[in-house]
Amino acid sequence: MGRLKICIVLCFVATLLGGSYIQHVAGQQRKRKSESPQAHGRTLYVQNCARCHGADGRSQTEMGQLYDATDLTDARWWRDQHISDRRLTNSITNGKKGGMPAFGKKLSRTDIAALVAFVRTFKH
Ligand code: HEC
Repeated sequence: MGRLKICIVLCFVATLLGGSYIQHVAGQQRKRKSESPQAHGRTLYVQNCARCHGADGRSQTEMGQLYDATDLTDARWWRDQHISDRRLTNSITNGKKGGMPAFGKKLSRTDIAALVAFVRTFKH
C-alpha cells in the first residue's frame, strides 16, 4: 500500500513537471515569434502611435484630426517629401513642432528602427 502511494505521488509530480515544461517551451516559442522585427514594430505602433495615426495609419482618429496628424498612407506625401528612413527616424526620435511627440527618450534605437520599418508598410 505504501509503495502504491509513493507511486501515485511520483506520477502526480511527474505530470506537474511535464506540464510546466511543456508550458515553458510553448512560452519560449511564443516569445521568439513575437520578437520578429515586424511584429515588434506593429506592437510598438499600436501602443504608441495608433491613438493619433490610427491602426490603419490614416490618422482619422479624434486625436489625429485634432492635431492634423500626417496621413501615413498618403502616396503624395511619400512622393513629394522623399521620405527617407533617416527622416522617419528623426521625426519619431525628436518629434515635430505640429504636435508629433518625441519618442527618443521613451523608446530604444532598435524600437524606433522597427517603427520606421512598420510605418513603411503604410506606403502604397
Ligand atoms: C499626439 C498625437 C501623435 C502621436 C501619439 C504620434 N504622432 Fe506622429 N504625428 C502627429 C502629428 C500632429 C504629425 C504632423 C506633425 C507635423 O507635420 O508638424 C505627425 C507626423 C508623423 C510623421 C511624419 C513626420 C515627417 O517627417 O513628416 C510620422 C512618420 C509619424 N508621425 C509617425 C509616428 C509614429 C511612428 C508614432 C508612434 C511612435 C507617432 N507618430 C505618434 C501626431 C502624433
